[in-house]
Amino acid sequence: MTRVIVSTGRGGTGKSTFCAMISKYLAPPLLLIDVDPDQSLCDMLGVDLEKEEVSTVSNVVSDIKQTGGLSSRLYFDDLETAFYQNCIYKSEKFDLVTLGTKWTEGCYCLADNSLKGIIPKLIRGYENVVIDSPAGLEHLNRRVVSHMNDLFVLSDSSLKSMKHIERMKRIMEGVKITYDYFYLVASHDFNGEVEECLQNLSQHYLGKIDYDVNVKDYNLKGKPLWDLPEDSPACLSVKKLLKRIQETDTNHFQVREELLA
Ligand SMILES: Nc1ncnc2c1ncn2[C@@H]1O[C@H](COP(=O)(O)OP(=O)(O)O)[C@@H](O)[C@H]1O
Ligand SMILES: [Mg+2]
Repeated sequence: MTRVIVSTGRGGTGKSTFCAMISKYLAPPLLLIDVDPDQSLCDMLGVDLEKEEVSTVSNVVSDIKQTGGLSSRLYFDDLETAFYQNCIYKSEKFDLVTLGTKWTEGCYCLADNSLKGIIPKLIRGYENVVIDSPAGLEHLNRRVVSHMNDLFVLSDSSLKSMKHIERMKRIMEGVKITYDYFYLVASHDFNGEVEECLQNLSQHYLGKIDYDVNVKDYNLKGKPLWDLPEDSPACLSVKKLLKRIQETDTNHFQVREELLA
């Protein structure tokens, strides 16, 4: 059974960094889906889609629209064909699909709905699928995925983040998004005192990602986060969280044991 793992939270809390980093320790075959139009996950993994001549969902939707295909009953067939031909980046380590940036006026409804329609078939055959969300709450209302096995919520040390979690849970209830496991993760800007507050707030508090100057540096230079030294603070934190999950949750996702050791 494919395992769907999602990270969400407010902007700048470290969602994309977290997705890039945990995916290194997950068992293959692995698929990453970037639902953020800003597509920063690619940069964090060192993937240059243009150079690789891989397109995005937003681009193929726009192409179909321009050729008048949108009014056609065959829209989804055209989309699927274009998607499978052009939008999957494949490598030995992982496959990657991105929603992508829209370059014209208007909302992302069609691109989001198209990706939503593609996901159920796309994820079949992968052991783990990691989905990186855009900032905020709207993607939940859009219900791009309706069931997640593991939901990681990244939280910074602000009252806004705490309120965000409450709103998020309420929306998910309202639009009927379900999950098996909920993990609250403190972002790198937490100090001990505020972390305690988060611990008290939720029984699902998993732990903290430590501040790591290498993450800043790699992100600045566009170096893949998978190449961070294993003893780098962020790597050590992610490995600690994954080991905690292995210890506490019996039906956890499959990891690459050799890398966690
Ligand atoms: N553990 C960390 N240590 C230091 N900086 C980090 C860490 N995690 C993320 N960052 C930095 O925080 C910023 C936001 O991270 P990002 O993953 O893009 O957040 P989000 O996807 O939630 O918007 C980036 O500049 C990133 O380099
Ligand atoms: Mg992001």
